[in-house]
Amino acid sequence: MKIAIVGKGGSGKTTTSAILARTIARSGRTTLALDCDSNPNLGISLGIGELETERLISVRDAVDAGEEQHPATADELVTNFGVDAPDGVRLAVVTAIQNPEPGCP
Ligand SMILES: Nc1ncnc2c1ncn2[C@@H]1O[C@H](COP(=O)(O)OP(=O)(O)OP(=O)(O)O)[C@@H](O)[C@H]1O
Ligand SMILES: [Mg+2]
Repeated sequence: MKIAIVGKGGSGKTTTSAILARTIARSGRTTLALDCDSNPNLGISLGIGELETERLISVRDAVDAGEEQHPATADELVTNFGVDAPDGVRLAVVTAIQNPEPGCP
């Protein structure tokens, strides 16, 4: 099952995503959370802490800037650049939309 959370600024996307991910993981399902927000702070809500969240963001920034090699596959991305969060959630911060149109997608 794939679940995407979208919405206007401040509408609760991050909070909802974290609660869903942690609840699903606690039920025993393999759970991968991908943060592709332009302001990615899902790591905070998932409980990995501020420093580790910042580190994941810097990895994404380095890939976007061409300073870090882009992983060849999605599996490689999750293995090499993801982190284990509480409750068994695996989290990766992935590329944001570079030039989004204004308004809610
Ligand atoms: N169901 C809820 N009831 C009350 N407050 C909530 C609820 N969900 C989220 N909030 C609060 O609303 C605020 C915004 O939530 P959140 O950061 O999850 O939104 P967001 O859509 O991810 O925001 P952004 O667009 O800035 O990324 C936070 O202070 C959060 O604690
Ligand atoms: Mg958010």
